[in-house]
Formats: sequence, C-alpha cells, structure tokens
Amino acid sequence: QDHRIARISSAIRVIPDFPKPGIMFQDITTLLLDPQAFKDTIDLFVERYKGKNISVVAGIEARGFIFGPPIALAIGAKFVPMRKPNKLPGAVISQEYALEYGTDKIEMHVGAVQAGERALVIDDLIATGGTLCAAINLLERVEVDVVECACVIELPELKGRDRLGDKPLFVLVSAA
Ligand code: PRP
Ligand code: MG
Repeated sequence: QDHRIARISSAIRVIPDFPKPGIMFQDITTLLLDPQAFKDTIDLFVERYKGKNISVVAGIEARGFIFGPPIALAIGAKFVPMRKPNKLPGAVISQEYALEYGTDKIEMHVGAVQAGERALVIDDLIATGGTLCAAINLLERVEVDVVECACVIELPELKGRDRLGDKPLFVLVSAA
C-alpha cells in the first residue's frame, strides 16, 4: 500500500503560482499520464468502498468526474454528476456555498438519487472544504446518507477536514 501511495504522490505535479501568486497548484493531470498510478488510485478507493452497500457515487465537477466513474463501475454503484450552475438540462436542486470572494453553486438533477440511498462523494482535492460541504448538504437535503467523502489530495493547512464536522473524510495524499 505504501509503495502505491508513494507512486501516486510523486505522480502529482505541483505548479507554483497557479492560478494566482502564492497558490501551489496540485495538478492531477500528470497522475493520469501514469497508468499504474492512476490504476492504483482507483484501486485504493475501490478496496475501501466495495461491499459497503454504497449505491451512489457523487462526483464533483470537474475533476471529481475523472475519479468517480471508474470507482462507481467497480463497486456497482450509479454515478451522479454534481455540476457547476446552469449545466444540467433537467430540473435541478442546487446548493450555494461561499468562496473567498462571492459565492458558487453546485447542482444535481432531481430524481438522480432517492431518499435512503447511501452515497460516497468524490473529488480530486479538499482545500477549505467548502465544495464538499455543499455536496454533503445537497445530498442530505434529499435524505441521502453520505457515508464518506473521498479525495486524492488534502491540503491540511486549510483545515477543510474540520469544516466537514463528523463526516468522515478519506484521502490518499496529504500535501503538507
Ligand atoms: C477545486 C478542486 C475542488 C475544490 C476544492 O475545484 O478540484 O473541487 O476546488 O476547494 P475547497 O475545498 O476550498 O472547496 P475548482 O473549484 O477549482 O474547479 P474545477 O474542479 O472545475 O477545476
Ligand atoms: Mg474541483
């Protein structure tokens, strides 16, 4: 397991000062270029979640759409995209959340999930935790049980984990 984590960690490229000065951008596109590291990433999530009775993998646009679907297929769950505003064509429910300046929104199709389903929320990275919180709130508003959130990378300095309260968070790599 350790060698898999090490390979995943070293396959993630860090780009300083993107998209603005002072930000160390965690670029997962280089992880996708290493088929073994990409497979290990998916396998580690699948090993954790298979047999856990999860019926929904909810992936957050955009990079949750890369990791969510292979996990959903492997554990026999459906995949539900949680999208940026005004992208989904059907009736949606939406959840607003605060950014550093202003607000953003994520949306999900009405009817994509049913009350009582068990969900896993997937994204590439947790920073402040605002995005994952919004996803949890959205799912819980329709009485879905969010079993856990999972990300490839955590930025522990931003304390996003604290913001999730007692909701479990599983990450592969901590970018200290
Ligand atoms: C990034 C990242 C997470 C979110 C984490 O996405 O992919 O989704 O920020 O930040 P938070 O924990 O502070 O909420 P971004 O909004 O940049 O959009 P993208 O995935 O569509 O590129
Ligand atoms: Mg994102």
